[in-house]
Amino acid sequence: MNFLNTTDLDDLTLDRVLLAAEQLRSEPQQDWLAGKSVALIFLNPSMRTRTSMEVGVFQLGGHAVVLQPGKDAWGIEFEPSTVMHGEAEEHIAEVAAVLSRYVDVIGVRAFPKFVDWSVDRQDKVIKAFAQYSTVPVISLETITHPLQELALALTLRSQLGDPRGKQFLLTWTYHPKPLNTAVANSAITIASRLGMDVTLLCPNEDFLLDSRYLDIATTQCSQHGRSFEISHDIATAYSGKDFVYAKSWGALPWYGNWAKQQPQHHEYKHFIVDEEKMSKTNNARFSHCLPLRRNIKATDAVMDAPYCVAAEEAENRLHAQKAVLGMVTGALS
Ligand code: CP
Repeated sequence: MNFLNTTDLDDLTLDRVLLAAEQLRSEPQQDWLAGKSVALIFLNPSMRTRTSMEVGVFQLGGHAVVLQPGKDAWGIEFEPSTVMHGEAEEHIAEVAAVLSRYVDVIGVRAFPKFVDWSVDRQDKVIKAFAQYSTVPVISLETITHPLQELALALTLRSQLGDPRGKQFLLTWTYHPKPLNTAVANSAITIASRLGMDVTLLCPNEDFLLDSRYLDIATTQCSQHGRSFEISHDIATAYSGKDFVYAKSWGALPWYGNWAKQQPQHHEYKHFIVDEEKMSKTNNARFSHCLPLRRNIKATDAVMDAPYCVAAEEAENRLHAQKAVLGMVTGALS
């Protein structure tokens, strides 16, 4: 089986993966991947995902091979039936077929191209890997970040106990560049799945996420009898929250047109997470997927506060990913 989105997992499977990850915290060494290999394809930079996947595969007794197409491996063409007179030296059909003969799992990081959201929202690169591979494919972040979702879920469970009925805030934050919406899409997806009241705080309607993810959050909150709210008011949005999650992303109406969005984007530096905003919460924990620019997205005081659990969430990536590797290879029964 592939692992491309948490929404592909039924509730029982999601819970099984989270429980396995929690057990792996205290029993990190397993032989689930003994004699097996994992290819990790990075089309974009990474620190946490790459390190935690490599270490996780090692702790499960397997071997990881990292490939960066266009850098240390041939560039890949993803368009079907195309004349390949561009930069790419080989087609995904051959790449996936050959890797499937060498390894037992393929992980892929493929960020959007930031040109046309109507194209990027189709998530074609990871779908092409899934189409042409004969071994399981794991998303290492595309237009969602499902492994980060699992790490966030583990963090919510360890910090809040049962997250059901607790108040979750996803706040947009300023960043000098327009970033991927993946983690934001994922944050509201998993918080609503866990039965939390979810608030999305962003400067104005231009910064709303794709309706696909707003609909998922709305539906899942409703299924749990909880609420999904959108707010543009900082004080109200922080008030009484149990968990504050921050992420910056580029406004979708300006997608591919950064120069036009830039002046508006820079008006919202005050969305930075600071102690004054955190003081409005219900002694909330704060987290971020990282990397994070200090004193741009969150202040030093917030990042160094005992309530900042970003490092724990990053550690949880390791446990969650090992559980996912166990799931896709059938070792986790
Ligand atoms: N959070 C996360 O995916 O970090 P990296 O980009 O460093 O992998």
